[in-house]
Formats: sequence, structure tokens, C-alpha cells
Amino acid sequence: MPLSIEAQPAPCGALVYGADLSRPLSTEDITGIREAWLSYQVLAFPNQTLSIKDIERFAATVGAFGQDPFFESVPGHPHVAQIRRDADEKTPLFAESFHSDWSFLPDPPIATVLYGNVIPPVGGDTLFANQYDAWDALPEATRRRLESLRGIHSARRGYARDGLYGERDAGRSMAIRYSDEALATQLHPVAKVHPETGRTALFVSPGYTIGIDGMADPEASELLMELFRHQRQEAFIYRHRWSPEMLVLWDNRCLLHAATGGYDGHDRLLHRITVAG
Ligand SMILES: [Fe+2]
Repeated sequence: MPLSIEAQPAPCGALVYGADLSRPLSTEDITGIREAWLSYQVLAFPNQTLSIKDIERFAATVGAFGQDPFFESVPGHPHVAQIRRDADEKTPLFAESFHSDWSFLPDPPIATVLYGNVIPPVGGDTLFANQYDAWDALPEATRRRLESLRGIHSARRGYARDGLYGERDAGRSMAIRYSDEALATQLHPVAKVHPETGRTALFVSPGYTIGIDGMADPEASELLMELFRHQRQEAFIYRHRWSPEMLVLWDNRCLLHAATGGYDGHDRLLHRITVAG
């Protein structure tokens, strides 16, 4: 069956039909999927009954396995993590602030593959914010100012000992392992040029950007707050609705994403792989 790509009525996102991800993909389909991914940034493949091995094989068509600090992996699958929340869980929602996955690493993952095993009947949508659009919508003078700046990225707010998922985070079903390694910082350009499309994306996030290199804190905070407000405007957002057995592939180089709640009383379980450059 030929691939069929159905664009979402949103600033990014498309549904993909005609590929059976439980079997090896043809070279033609791998090429078609990559082209669609670069065009729409988020691809969702509904109705795919997949094992963990199938998800790994699909991720390997996108790139090499990424490095995954702070998550305990699934036994026997060192690159697969579970994103889970139990029905009666009371911990703060995981990943509720906008971020690009693991952007605090020297080489952040280019992509994330997420597969929905148990999906609640309500809530749990994932928000994607198109950062090409966010960049393009900035006034020219602001773009010129940002072009030479580098953001300071760090996992500390989430994964340090005193972070949101640190030692005070009791009762979480997800296997998060906080660490002093989360205190490390990494610089990345605020204006990130996508190596495959050549387009520029705004690459800061409230999740992981804690400052601007060479800029005093008050000035950097003010600038970052302004950018954080700008980059999550409704005009840039695609609200992704999950269904059970749906696989989603997104591009971390030009998108931010955020989890939403609204499913208290329901279990939720997904499997995640990050893909390196
Ligand atoms: Fe994430």
C-alpha cells in the first residue's frame, strides 16, 4: 500500500497511513517518511500493533539511538524508557513545561519516537509548538539580536537532587533517577539552523534554558521570559490527541512539546526512544 500523508489543520503535524511498522520498511517508505517528517515536524501513525523490538527497528530508520540520562530503561532494552502515570498517582505531572528533549546534552537528540500502549479516554494530549514559525514571527531587529546569542541549557530544574523529580518527588510510577550530573550546563545557539532543512528555529525553552551566555541574569531572565511567552502562542501550537497503539515521531530541532493532564483516575503508559543525530 502506498504511503498516505494527511496534514493536520495546525502549524505542524500529519497522520501517516499505508505503512505497517510491525515489519521492516522499504527504502522507499523510509525516504517518504523522512520527507514527510521534515515537512510536518510531527508524524503520527495510528493503529500500529507494535512490540518494543518493532519500535526500536522503526527508530533505527531515523537514526542511531540517543543517550538517555535520568531514566531507567526497560530491562533488555537499554534505549527504551517508559513514560507512565498510574490512575491514582498524585505527583506533579511529568514534562508539563515546554521543552526540546534533552537539549542540555552536547548533542541533543534530533528526534523522539513515542508509542502509546495505554492511552486514557480523556486528557493526556501532547502540545507541539512550531519553533520555525516562532522564529519567523519575531521582529527582524529581535532576530538580528538573537542570532549571535547562545542559550545555557541544563537539566537541573527537573533532574537535580533538589529538582522537580529529585529527592522530594515521592510516589512517582515513572523510573526517573535524579543525579548531580543534572547540574551540568551546555551552550546552544538561540537561533538553531536545522541541518536538513536549512530553516532557522528558536531554540530555547522554559524546561531547560536557564540563562544566556555572557548576559547578566536579570537581563537574560527578562529576555528569556519574553521568548518563552512568544514561542508558545496558540498560532504555533498543534494539540496532538493520542489513541491506543499510535506511534508518534517528532523533530526536536524545530519543535517544543509539553505534556497535559486531565486524565486522573486513568492509567497511561507509553514507550519512548530518543534518536541521535
Ligand atoms: Fe519530552
